[in-house]
Amino acid sequence: MERDDIIRLLMQREFVSGEYISGKLGVTRAAVWKAISAMREEGYEIESVKRRGYHLAPPDNSVWPSAIRRELVSKWAGCEIEYYRSIDSTNARAKALGREGAPHGAAVVADDQVSGRGRMARGWSAPAGKCLLMSVMVRPRGLHPRHAPQLVPVAALAVAGAIAKFGLEARIKWPNDIVIGTRKVCGTLLEMSADMDGVDFAVIGAGTNLNGYPELPGDTATSLMREGGAEICRASFAAGLLEAFEMYYDSWEAGGIGRIMGEYREKSATVGNRVKVIRQGRESVGRAIDINEDGSLRFLPDGGEVEDLNEGDVSVRGLLNYV
Ligand code: BTN
Repeated sequence: MERDDIIRLLMQREFVSGEYISGKLGVTRAAVWKAISAMREEGYEIESVKRRGYHLAPPDNSVWPSAIRRELVSKWAGCEIEYYRSIDSTNARAKALGREGAPHGAAVVADDQVSGRGRMARGWSAPAGKCLLMSVMVRPRGLHPRHAPQLVPVAALAVAGAIAKFGLEARIKWPNDIVIGTRKVCGTLLEMSADMDGVDFAVIGAGTNLNGYPELPGDTATSLMREGGAEICRASFAAGLLEAFEMYYDSWEAGGIGRIMGEYREKSATVGNRVKVIRQGRESVGRAIDINEDGSLRFLPDGGEVEDLNEGDVSVRGLLNYV
């Protein structure tokens, strides 16, 4: 029995019984007790409480599953939560979970990513321990791959909703950035496994800057702490985000994209603005008119004709700043 296996189980829930650990690891309860005693001698502060089990307190502001679960009230979002101190990419791990048959709503969180992925095959990096790096794997029922981009507004509304619980107003920069004022606070990334007929599973990853003080060129990024002035509890934010994601996802699944599009448009930081569209290095300036039901952007280039832009193909910027 490896020590890490025990720690992993103790990180999962506030209290974990000796019986549960012995069953999961295929060892006797006496062996569990012995291992826990040895760990205590080494300095691990593992409490044991009668009829509840062992408790390992999470470090300050951690995103251990036990800390997230304390706050989480959901039906399926975060039904399983994997935590990593460091990982290549939470999206990559969540995709592996999809292939391994994990249930709808399984989530992956990490303190740090060494190969974080961004949109349009870009990398994505974030300060370790300051953000919420989380991916959720879903198994949409009967979703054609053509309609999978509808999950982007679902995720964006969920992030804006989670931010609102902390008293801040976030808006959505088409298609997948969440901004406060004119600065980016979160980017989301949708990936999926699909064939011609349907989506087997999709992964939605979000990197939200909670407590970092980003110093990016052009002052285009921010964090919730910078905007609100107080440190954010990462586990509470994670729980709030999972709850909001479940709410918008269920609403979308029951009523289609039309059910959430009104709110998405209301929260749009792009619709109605003059914008610069960048496509394969070429720029055109015009007005963002609307967001279509399929999530594409209606764009009227100066002196040109209305076009519908798909999220995979273009970047959109404000004329003077990021939004
Ligand atoms: C973007 O702005 O281009 C999208 C960034 C998405 C980053 C998140 S962090 C959690 C998840 N894991 C990844 O590798 N990427 C997403």
